Amino acid sequence: MAPKRLLTRVFFALAVILGARLILIPRSSSASLDPSAFESYNVFERVTGVDKILNVRKYKFLQSRMGRDSRKDIFDDIITSGVADYWNRKDTAHTDLQNVLTAVESLLSLNGWVAAYCPTLARPFGQNKNVDEDAYDDLAKDDRLYFVAMVIHSADHFLVDQLAVIVQLAKRLGTSNIFVSMLDYDSTDSTTTLTDLCEAVLTLLGVSFRIRRVPGMTEDVAAAYYPMEEAYMRNLALEPLLELHQKRNIEFYRVIWLKGFTCPNDILETLRVSIANEAAMVCGMDWAESSGQFIFSDRWRTRDIHGDQFRQSTSSSKPDAVPPRDENGAARYIQHLPFQVFCCEAGTHIVDPAQSYYKGIKYRCGNDFHNATSSSESIPLRAPDAACLDSSQAWFCRDLWISKAMNDFHDDELVPTPERQTISRRQLPDDELDADVNAGSDYDAMPDSDSDVPIDALPTGPLSVPNSAYTPARILVNPRCVTTYAGVSHTQLALDLFGTGDDDEAQVNATKYVLEDWDGAPESFVCQEQRQTGGRKAAKTQRLLGFSIHDELR
Ligand SMILES: *[C@@H]1O[C@H](CO)[C@@H](O)[C@H](O)[C@H]1NC(C)=O
Ligand SMILES: *[C@@H]1O[C@H](CO)[C@@H](O)[C@H](O)[C@H]1NC(C)=O
Repeated sequence: MAPKRLLTRVFFALAVILGARLILIPRSSSASLDPSAFESYNVFERVTGVDKILNVRKYKFLQSRMGRDSRKDIFDDIITSGVADYWNRKDTAHTDLQNVLTAVESLLSLNGWVAAYCPTLARPFGQNKNVDEDAYDDLAKDDRLYFVAMVIHSADHFLVDQLAVIVQLAKRLGTSNIFVSMLDYDSTDSTTTLTDLCEAVLTLLGVSFRIRRVPGMTEDVAAAYYPMEEAYMRNLALEPLLELHQKRNIEFYRVIWLKGFTCPNDILETLRVSIANEAAMVCGMDWAESSGQFIFSDRWRTRDIHGDQFRQSTSSSKPDAVPPRDENGAARYIQHLPFQVFCCEAGTHIVDPAQSYYKGIKYRCGNDFHNATSSSESIPLRAPDAACLDSSQAWFCRDLWISKAMNDFHDDELVPTPERQTISRRQLPDDELDADVNAGSDYDAMPDSDSDVPIDALPTGPLSVPNSAYTPARILVNPRCVTTYAGVSHTQLALDLFGTGDDDEAQVNATKYVLEDWDGAPESFVCQEQRQTGGRKAAKTQRLLGFSIHDELR
C-alpha cells in the first residue's frame, strides 16, 4: 500500500470519527469517548418505530465492545480540540435531531475509495445497470436476519471500505436486520482507531454489533500453528451468532464473511445465489495484483468438484485455462454462472447457518501437527492416509459434506455406480510456475513448483460406498462476486473478467442463479498441509488424499 494512500485514509477516518463524535457526544458531556453517550440515539429506530428482534434501543446488549484497547493514541488530542472548537463556535451551537439525521444520511452514502467505484464497474447481466429497478427487496424481509462476520488482523487498509460496504448492506437489508461481528485479532496497525470509527457509525445507525479485540494465541509466531489460529479466530467471531441462538432463540438466515474488499451489489447477488440454491456456502472469487496482472488467489482453500486445486489463472485467461479445472465448472465460469465446488473460501463468502453452525459444526484443524519450538526432532512421518493438516476452511468444507450426507441419507441410492468405483489417478498439476504472491488469500498458498507428490501418497482401491450415493453438500463459487485487495485496478479487472457486461440475459435466464445438477463429493482431493508450527508462513507440503464419506460416517 502506497504510504500516501494510507495517509489519506487515516485522515479520512479521522474526519469521520470527528464527525461521529460530534454528533454522538452530548454538548454538556466531556469530550471523552464514553459508549453510554451513544445509547440514546439509534436514529433509525426512532424514525421507523418498528418493533424488531434486533432492537438495539430495547436490548442494550446488542451493541457491545469487548477488549477495547483504551491506551491513549495520537488522535486523542486532535479529536478533543476539534470537539471543543466545534462546540465553542456560535454557528454550530444548535445541534438537534435534524443534524443527526442529516449526518446519518451522509453516512449512508458513505463511500470508501474502492466502494465509490462499485456502481461504475462492468458486471454480467446488467447487474450494475439495473440498480435503480433492483433494490434487492426480496432479501430484505423482516424474518431474514443477516450476520456479518469479520476477522481483522492488521488490515486497516480495508476497514474503511468494509465499513462503507456494511453501511450499504444495512441500507438495503434494513439496519435492524443485520448484526456485525468484528474480531480484531492482535492487530498492530491503526485497526484499533478504525474500530472506534466502526463502533461510532454502527451505534449511530442503530445496527447491532460486537466489536472484540483479542491478543494472539501464542506470543511467539514461530510457536503458532496457523490453521489452529484460523479456527480460533473464526469461532470467536461466531460467538454472538451462537449465543443469540442459544439464549435468545434468534436465528440468522445467512452469515456473510467479509474478507478483502467486495462491492455491496456483488454480495447481495451472492445472497440470492445462496438462497435460490439453498446452498450451504457460496464464495466469491479473490483477485490479487501480480506484476501488472490480476491472478486468481486463494488456491490454498479452494478445490473444484473433482478435488483439484484451482489454477492460478489471470483475469484475462483463455477459456481453456480458467481457474476451475473441471469441465462443468469451467464452462459455467466462462458464462459467469455459479458453479459447484468441493471447497472454497476466496474472499467474501456466505454460509447458511442452518446447514452448518446451528448443527454444531465449528471451525477446526488437525491436531497431530509437529510443534517445532517444543521439540528438536524433525517432523515425524505420518501414514499416507493420515488426516490432512490443511486450512480450517478445508476442514469446514469436509464437515459440510459429511453433515449433509448424514442428514439426507437415501439407502435406495446405495447401489455403487461402476464409473465411480475407480479413482482416477490424477497427477497433480504442474503447468503453472508463477511464484507465490504475497497478496490476497494466496498469501497462504504454496507455489505450484513445489507440487510434486510422493507416489505412495496416492489413494488406492474403490470405495465400498461411492460418495455419489450421498446427498451432495451445496457449495458454490459465484464468479460474479469479485473480492480484491490493495493494488488492484478495479475497472481493468472488471473488463478482463466480464467484458462490457452485455451478456445475453435471455439465454441464461434460469441458470443465472440456480444450478440444476449437483455432483457427489470427489473421492480424492489435493491436500495442502502445514505439518508444523511457524505461523502463517510455515512450509506447506502437498499430497493426494482419498475422501470417503462412508468411512467418515462410520
Ligand atoms: C508449541 O510449543 C511451545 C513451547 O512449548 C508452546 O508455547 C506453544 O503454544 C506450542 N504451540 C502450539 C500451537 O501448541
Ligand atoms: C430461458 O427461458 C426460455 C423461455 O422462458 C426457455 O425456453 C429457456 O429454456 C430458458 N433458458 C435456460 C437456459 O434456462
